[in-house]
Amino acid sequence: MTEQTTNLFGPVAGDLATVESELRQHIQRDPPEVAGPMADLFEAGGKRIRPALVLLSAMSGRYDLARLVPAAMAVELTHAATLVHDDVIDRAKMRRGRPTIASTLGDEPAIVIGDFYFAKAYELAAVTAEPEVVAILARTVMGICAGEVRQQSIRYRYSTDVGEYMRRIEAKTALLVAACCDIGGLLGGLDGERRAALRGYGRELGLAFQIADDVLDYTATEGEVGKPIGHDIAEGFATLPLMLSSVEIEDGRRLDEQEARRIADAVRKSAGPQRALDQARDHANAARAQLSKLDRGEAVAALESLTDYVVSRNL
Ligand code: IPE
Ligand code: IPE
Ligand code: MG
Ligand code: MG
Repeated sequence: MTEQTTNLFGPVAGDLATVESELRQHIQRDPPEVAGPMADLFEAGGKRIRPALVLLSAMSGRYDLARLVPAAMAVELTHAATLVHDDVIDRAKMRRGRPTIASTLGDEPAIVIGDFYFAKAYELAAVTAEPEVVAILARTVMGICAGEVRQQSIRYRYSTDVGEYMRRIEAKTALLVAACCDIGGLLGGLDGERRAALRGYGRELGLAFQIADDVLDYTATEGEVGKPIGHDIAEGFATLPLMLSSVEIEDGRRLDEQEARRIADAVRKSAGPQRALDQARDHANAARAQLSKLDRGEAVAALESLTDYVVSRNL
């Protein structure tokens, strides 16, 4: 966690530290071949937004740490496993400021290490003794995988439209963020209406978060985000800042390094990133609007601050 997020997660910061140390201890008990690389990935940082959302979402209802901690661990492990696989698919060399598992050990071990931690996530979800938590997580991962497969079919198709982009980020990011809030609401014993509000909040927050991430891929520095900049276009993926710029690229092939850099520069100088950020703000506002259906308190106030954070972050 960074200083910024620790403040942001206020009411659950202490419990998140418990989630953190439990994660570390659990991973330590895994076979060293898988535990070593995963421990590294956790140690390298990460914002821990997803476990924070589980805890904060439960806080407006019953706050039973014995079930919330394993659920929070399960969503963070799911997230970590998707990152390990994503770095294979995206041929990414850096993650959280360190070399990726795929780049140090190779794609094959990275795939199996990812699989191991998906399985571990379900095992932890089962510790909540609430089958629906396992079902939510399973459906989420199925949705993420379906989205990743679809994304492969638009690789090098730079002319894909905003509708396709929104479906893509819904699957790869919003589904899991919404699931975190839903799981928190479920374990918190909230009624259907409040759970739906939390789920809606998570979905919109996730969309805003991913759009902001795609803007950062053009506007940030590698030092800030701990992953290479301009990587999306270099790997053949058109994202919203490009779509909202007037930069055009011919479909059908991978760009060479120089071309990719030139296009990233052109997008950065265009109105695309700002326009994309405006759309991220609209989604953050939609997330905030859902919170009016919940009882106000410190947890809901923290969820509200997150809607500002996701569109102003530089990490
Ligand atoms: C990275 O997620 C993948 C996206 C959905 C953009 P995060 O930005 O939450 O990654 P960490 O966990 O903080 O490294
Ligand atoms: C990560 O998406 C999405 C998943 C976790 C499936 P990206 O490829 O856009 O994210 P980064 O930039 O590698 O973190
Ligand atoms: Mg990707
Ligand atoms: Mg990636």
